[in-house]
Amino acid sequence: MSSARPLVIAGISIFPPLALAPMAGVTNALFRRLFKPFGLGLTVSEFVSAQSIIRGHQRTLEMVDVYEDERPTSVQLHGNDPAVMAQAAAFVEECRADIVDINFGCPAPKIVKGGDGAALLRDPDLAVAICAAVRKAVKRVPVTVKMRLGWSSDNYTYIEIAKRAQAEGIDAFTLHGRYGQQFYKGQADWSYIARLKEAVSVPVIGNGDVKSASDALARLSETGVDAIMVGRATLGNPWLIREIASALRGEPKPAAPTVSERIDFARAHFDAMIERYGEKSGVLQMRKHLGWYLKGIQDASSFRDRINHEASPEGVRGLLEEARTRPPADEAAPELLSEAV
Ligand SMILES: Cc1cc2nc3c(=O)[nH]c(=O)nc-3n(C[C@H](O)[C@H](O)[C@H](O)COP(=O)(O)O)c2cc1C
Repeated sequence: MSSARPLVIAGISIFPPLALAPMAGVTNALFRRLFKPFGLGLTVSEFVSAQSIIRGHQRTLEMVDVYEDERPTSVQLHGNDPAVMAQAAAFVEECRADIVDINFGCPAPKIVKGGDGAALLRDPDLAVAICAAVRKAVKRVPVTVKMRLGWSSDNYTYIEIAKRAQAEGIDAFTLHGRYGQQFYKGQADWSYIARLKEAVSVPVIGNGDVKSASDALARLSETGVDAIMVGRATLGNPWLIREIASALRGEPKPAAPTVSERIDFARAHFDAMIERYGEKSGVLQMRKHLGWYLKGIQDASSFRDRINHEASPEGVRGLLEEARTRPPADEAAPELLSEAV
């Protein structure tokens, strides 16, 4: 087995060429730091509103925090006003993001209604103006774009936008092989991702529906992309990152985690969240994560139900200890979340 090549974005060398997808409500700094050691080359923040940044909202400012031990980290912005995006991008660079990423992919109604995210795929001139303004405002670090194919299936604008954005100095693109109106339905179509790779000279990161190391290797070799980005399949399953990273390094497949290892990690994540966010918010925020961690364990749904009714950290810890005694469920292919964010 041979090793993949590093992803190089404007001089930043990233190995293995494996990125964790930005996921709002999930990939905060604490989550990224916990998942990084499994072998991620690059982490990306949840998307952050450029408007909220320039208004100085405290909670938003916390979202651009980067831990030293997760670098390189990209901080992603959404917005639709070139001047506001430029000002927010300069701020994010000052906060020591390694890369500034622009979101042209989010299809969630509340984002699209405001003209942000995937809505910009309907307006290539404005999308390119945002890229030009951000590129000008950011002095030292690379600027990248994450996008979908287009807003609707009859108007794929991604190649036009990418070529023009590259001419404005954008340093790399991530492409999720779906269109905006598709949300998370159907399958990501990587043949379009391969076309972007041919159309631009800067690196392309491919994204959509990677669920295993063999998916990752197949998508890399079929499309020639420079890196793989993986999102939903890692939820509750950072060991998938280890598996993909090993494959990209040309190393043998690591052993699957035992139930005890899964519980240890879930518990470490839980404790870190309680310490960071306090008991009440930590318990609430961890419910979805614990549901994901318990997926591979027998009686997962009854544990999930009990955890969702448990308000105290001690109660949750007790349930995790009880889950530790359960055998693994039959391994099934991971189902990807279908909720649109
Ligand atoms: C819960 C959730 C939140 C997401 N939030 C963002 C986001 O903030 N920014 C972004 O560019 N994409 C976001 N996405 C899209 C993912 O980054 C990714 O493009 C998509 O899930 C497809 O990759 P996957 O099939 O590996 O999950 C989100 C997806 C999910 C499921």
